[in-house]
Amino acid sequence: MIEIAPSILSANFSRLGEEIKIVERAGASLLHVDVMDGRFVPNITIGLPVVNAISRATRLPIDAHLMIVEPGRYAEQFVQAGAKMVSIHIEADPHAHRTLTAIRAAGAQAGIAVNPATPLSALDEAVKFADYVLVMSVNPGFGGQEFISNSLDKVRRLRKILDERGLRARIEIDGGINSDNVAEVAGAGAEIIVSGSAIFGAPDPAVALRELREATVLWV
Ligand code: DX5
Ligand code: ZN
Repeated sequence: MIEIAPSILSANFSRLGEEIKIVERAGASLLHVDVMDGRFVPNITIGLPVVNAISRATRLPIDAHLMIVEPGRYAEQFVQAGAKMVSIHIEADPHAHRTLTAIRAAGAQAGIAVNPATPLSALDEAVKFADYVLVMSVNPGFGGQEFISNSLDKVRRLRKILDERGLRARIEIDGGINSDNVAEVAGAGAEIIVSGSAIFGAPDPAVALRELREATVLWV
């Protein structure tokens, strides 16, 4: 099953609860929350108190994408704050096995994220301890960037590696996805498709979400 995960990074933060309700009613099955620390990426967004508040305000599972240095210091706390999925970047954690294991032990799905210029070979071992791999299709830090087209081939290669190795990790993709490229992204093998500006930047986020989902179904 392919899931569309709206990223609240492009939502209107002054009315976040209402924005979340809109995508919840429109049939989102996940909510992608971008946590940035101004160190791993050149931007600062939201942290634990906001994740905690959102988790109380929605029934949608929260997918927390940690774009922070030393994610091992905070990953479990994001699970305690209500996240059902927590991803960390392979580039940010020399102890990814420990952190992924801790996320699972705390009761959430553990994801390993990879930047556009990081080779898939960097994930060789970590992927065994992950429930999903997050392929970044933009350089993380900001919403509204252009999709890096090499990401399609990267997803295809990852799909093949996972299948050949009999690994059950799902593939998530994040960055620059809109109704023009979502079908190709799904066709390449991504199962969780994050979209921020194409949903919350649209005049009607509910319509935009449905369009994305329909475009995906057309492919599969
Ligand atoms: C970027 C974030 C993304 C972002 C995607 O660093 O990880 O989740 O919100 O936004 P769009 O869909 O606008 O590229
Ligand atoms: Zn993200």
